[in-house]
Amino acid sequence: MSKPLLQVALDNLNISSALEATRVLADEVDVLEVGTILCYAEGAKAVSILRALYPDKTIVTDLKAADAGTTVAEIVFSAGTNWMTVICCAPYATMEAALEVAQKYNGDVQVELYGDWTFEQAEKWREIGLTQVIYHRGRDAAFAGQQWGEEDLVKIRRLVEMGFDVSVTGGLYARDLGFFEGIPVKCFIAGRGLYGADDPAQAARDFKAAIDKFW
Ligand code: 5RP
Repeated sequence: MSKPLLQVALDNLNISSALEATRVLADEVDVLEVGTILCYAEGAKAVSILRALYPDKTIVTDLKAADAGTTVAEIVFSAGTNWMTVICCAPYATMEAALEVAQKYNGDVQVELYGDWTFEQAEKWREIGLTQVIYHRGRDAAFAGQQWGEEDLVKIRRLVEMGFDVSVTGGLYARDLGFFEGIPVKCFIAGRGLYGADDPAQAARDFKAAIDKFW
């Protein structure tokens, strides 16, 4: 089982605070994410700035796209992203359109699993060529008290068995990773647990130490 990667979700409100975070985190993490909040605040220029500064880093743009797959994918892939996300309730046509653009750029599309989705839909995602999903405990769901539980592990394992690379996110801190021990997680994604830490570089090292301990 390969070791999970570590991804920082830059959910900053502006480019300058995102760059403050990447200055200390870029060397400590494997993947940089232009978070949904940063996408709203700054648009695709956040992607092009990060690409210019970090030419060799994997960059994800967390658009959670729901429509206009071709257009929005073209915007972020031409700006230099490697991967982008679509929301799980998007029409299959939107996912297929985004994937077609992604493949033109040697990139990929990830399906963000939020709220209600079914394994029947997931079968269809595989059929249309999608191979990555992000298993997500939503920020608002976590605020409402939703904890990680056995049912999450069951669903993640089933997605892995279906052939998906599964990334996991949602209010994660290094202390949470042991809960997922034994599951071939592609990538742990953390925002507040990294850029929001008192010492972000140390927090990233703590995540990496947990990954080394459990995988
Ligand atoms: C919110 C997101 C976040 O980027 C993701 O959940 C990671 O952030 P945090 O660790 O702060 O929860 O996609 O929609």
